[in-house]
Formats: sequence, structure tokens, C-alpha cells
Amino acid sequence: MSTAVSTTPMHNRVQEFVSRPRKMFVDGKWVEAASGKTFPTYNPATGEVLAQVAEGDREDIDRAVKAARRAFDSGPWHEMTPSQRGRVIWKLGDLIEEHLEEFAQLESLDNGKPLSVARIADVPLAADLFHYMAGWATKIEGNTIPISASSRHVKYLAYTRREPVGVVGQIIPWNFPLLMAAWKLGPALATGCTVVLKPAEQTPLSALLLAELIAEAGFPDGVVNVVPGYGETAGAALASHPDVDKIAFTGSTEVGRLILQAAAGNLKKVSLELGGKSPNLVFADADMKATIPGAASAIFFNHGQCCCAGSRLYIEQSIFDHVVHGVAEQAKKIKLGPGFDPDTSMGPLVSEEQMNRVCSYLESGLHEGAEAVVGGHKRPGAGYFVEPTVMVKTKPDMKVVREEIFGPVVCAMPFRDVDKLIAEANQSEYGLAAAVWTRDISKAHRIAEKLRAGTVWINCYNVFDAALPFGGYKQSGWGREMGHESLELYTEVKAVCAAI
Ligand code: NAI
Ligand code: MG
Repeated sequence: MSTAVSTTPMHNRVQEFVSRPRKMFVDGKWVEAASGKTFPTYNPATGEVLAQVAEGDREDIDRAVKAARRAFDSGPWHEMTPSQRGRVIWKLGDLIEEHLEEFAQLESLDNGKPLSVARIADVPLAADLFHYMAGWATKIEGNTIPISASSRHVKYLAYTRREPVGVVGQIIPWNFPLLMAAWKLGPALATGCTVVLKPAEQTPLSALLLAELIAEAGFPDGVVNVVPGYGETAGAALASHPDVDKIAFTGSTEVGRLILQAAAGNLKKVSLELGGKSPNLVFADADMKATIPGAASAIFFNHGQCCCAGSRLYIEQSIFDHVVHGVAEQAKKIKLGPGFDPDTSMGPLVSEEQMNRVCSYLESGLHEGAEAVVGGHKRPGAGYFVEPTVMVKTKPDMKVVREEIFGPVVCAMPFRDVDKLIAEANQSEYGLAAAVWTRDISKAHRIAEKLRAGTVWINCYNVFDAALPFGGYKQSGWGREMGHESLELYTEVKAVCAAI
């Protein structure tokens, strides 16, 4: 990093926001933790404390669940029409747009991502999600069903209703803090559920700003409660709470398993969005002008801290050297720096823990005989910076090829035979995303069918839309977020049968 760092001035409101301890949002009120404790959140570009936040634990989760239960069972939310519900959700989307710069700055400070990226990706996508979901509030429909039990003597009228599942616990990660809150809250609110949201301990700030806007948008008290805190305490209390009807989680596969165990107590419904090790397939007939930057951005976007990162790059043998060289050149052009520096194209990783985790993968890969064409190290000095890295000479059984690294590290591997390629691409415990780059459109669709993944991109990567379902096969998760599929996670189906 250069010593003379140019930097965007901090928005007044953001300065004020981080200057005093943030409280939690329970039953429409801002309250301290029951224990009175706070925890620090850090600026990963410097390693310094950014702000203090109320530290929620079991008692706070319990209060929040009680508030959410009351708001679900009785009171204004329960009585609002679908159209009124849709309108407040839409208003929330508008308010996020109005406060775009504040959100982008908080996100950059708390998570490390470039401010420029938060401005064009995280924040607008979050606003869009609420606008999209606002439309669904009036369209949660059942069916009328002709049943064969009807006879000449008795006739039946049978129909289904889709009803909100109830009080929902939502536990989200730190890679897209605001956007993950939106993906979770949008469908829960559209269907009429009430929520206790626990943001990640690394990045609690944007969810707390969102809670301010939730109050302003007109959601009744208790409909959304935001309780920051650690996973092992607040998160675990939410996942095991006997009065929570459903838990939705995004994070590591390891914690996903803990969530399932915790949910077993009252058999609450569970949806999980977990890790990935997504294969990115490049054929010799692909348009290299799009493919090379596409393959680089598939792994380096958000510093590789994406569950769908294109971390296994399979390249047809005849163009292997050309593509590896091209992606490495892209990596060299990436400017590491603090998110507030307008020249920065990649910020620090989110935490020291994450930096150490990624570095231990780099060491393991190099130790097992892989080579880094570019990168391979952390940046010395303050902040949690890791160089964008392209690894070659990997073997399928190496940890760097099998396990999710969640950092800017791609393993490039050559292939010759398409059937073997598909087998290798599918040889993973994960199945979140995949991509194919080729000009042969028939081949692309044939391969898309064979890939065991919840999303397949063709000649593009990381394209997200509020209308497009996202989620995983295999150990990448249960259920789909976004699109109308996500509404199923938040509704129960009731069959009503009347003799008429
Ligand atoms: P994590 O899975 O521990 O954290 C995600 C969320 O779960 C946070 O809100 C955390 O507080 C909560 N949590 C942690 N332990 C919990 C528990 N016992 N009960 C309930 N909630 C709990 O992820 P972490 O440790 O931050 O990252 C580890 C790895 O997980 C990453 O290297 C990456 O591979 C993966 N990950 C995947 C994400 C995805 O988008 N699928 C997002 C974040 C991490
Ligand atoms: Mg963890």
C-alpha cells in the first residue's frame, strides 16, 4: 500500500453512528443488552476498533422472540392488509436508496470492501430486493382443488391457504451484511412473518442502521428485532429457542450442522445457505475478451468472500497457459487498499481470523506442491490484506481444491475430456454454483443440465437478481432464497376442506 492514501471523507451521519455505542432494536425500542455488555467491531483496513455494539445473549434473544411472538399473534401487523404490508416493504426499499451513501460507507468500514463496490452492488441490490418482495405481499395465493372424495351425496369444497410460518430467527454472515439481511427479511415480511435477526459479530452496523429505517418505514413494533452478538451465544440461543417457528441461516457448513441440531428441539423449520467450491469451466472456443476478466472476477469479486466464488477454474488444455496468464495479469492489476481510497479495487479480508484462515490454505497448497503464478502471501503491515492468488499444479485431493477457502485464491486446472470434466466438476461435497464459458450454446446448455449446482451461469458470473432463486445442492444448503421460491420457506400450507 502506498503511504499517501487518498480517502473519501466520512459522511456526517456515519461519523456520528460509529462515535457512540450502538444499542439493539427490540420491540421497536433501542435498548442496551440485559447484561450491559458491549463488544467491539473492527475496521479491517487498519485493525482498529470501529465501534462498540450492545452484546446480545440468551436473555436478549428471549425478549426479542417474545416481542416477535406478540407482534405475530396480535396487534397491527396481524391486521394489516397484504397491500398495506406491501407498501411498508416498498417504503423500506425507498429509504435504503435515500440512505445509500451512509450504508455504503458503513459497509466499507465494517467489512473492508471498496466503497465503490458497496455503492453499486450491496446497497442497490438490497433496495431492489425489498421492492421486488413488496410486490409479492399481495400475491401469496392458494389453490382450489377438485377432490375425488366428492360424490353424488356429499360435495366438498377444498382449497389451500398459504399462511406465514410465524416467528422467524435469521442468522446472517459478514460478506454482504446489508444484502444478506435483505435476502432474509424480504420474503419473511412479504409473507407476514415476524423476525429476530442476528447479524454477524464482524459486521453488525448496517443491520442496525436498517433497523432505524424499519421503524421509519412504518413496521409495527416487534415485527423486526435486531439483536447483535456472537454466534455461540446469541446465535445458538436463537437457533434453539422453543418459541421460534423457523430458522434461516447463511454461513459455514460447520455451523449449518449446529443449527440443525439446535433446531431439533422443537423441530422448527430450517433453511440453510452454506459453503461452496464452485467450478468455472472454460472451453477453447470461448470469447477470451469476456472469459478472462470474467474468470478473474468470479474469484476476486468481494475478495473471494463469496459462497459462490468460482474457486475451481477448469481450463481446456489447448488454452490453459493463455487463460492462466490472462487471469494472473488481471490479478496483478488489482489494487489492494482501504475501501475508502477511490483507487482501491480490493480491500482487506473481513478479519484477522479470516486472513489467517486464508493464509493457512495458501501455505497448505504450496506445501503440497502447488505453485502460485501470482500472489500467494498476505501483505505486510496493518490491515488484513491478502494478495489475489492464482494456483496451478494442484491435485484433486489437495485441501485447496476440495475445501472452501473464502478468500482471493483460485486453483486453475487443465482438462481434455468433457465427460471427465463434468465428473470432476461435480466431485465436491458442495453444489452452490458453476459456470460455463463457450461460444457453443448447445454445449453450454447440455453441460448446465449435468452440473449439480443451484445456479449455473453461462458466459457470465455472479449475476444476481431478486427474481432469481439462489441456493445449494448437496452440502451447500436447504431451500432457495430470492424469487418466488423463497416464499415457500416462510409459509405453511393449510388445506381447508368443507362439506357443502
Ligand atoms: P460462521 O458460520 O461461524 O458465521 C456465520 C453466522 O453464524 C454469524 O452470524 C455467526 O455469529 C453465526 N454463528 C456462529 N456460530 C453459531 C452457532 N453455534 N449457532 C448459531 N449461530 C452461529 O462463519 P465464520 O466463522 O464467520 O466463517 C467461517 C467460514 O464459513 C468462512 O471461511 C467461509 O468458508 C464460510 N462462510 C460462508 C458464508 C456463506 O455465504 N455461505 C458466509 C460466511 C462464512
Ligand atoms: Mg465461526
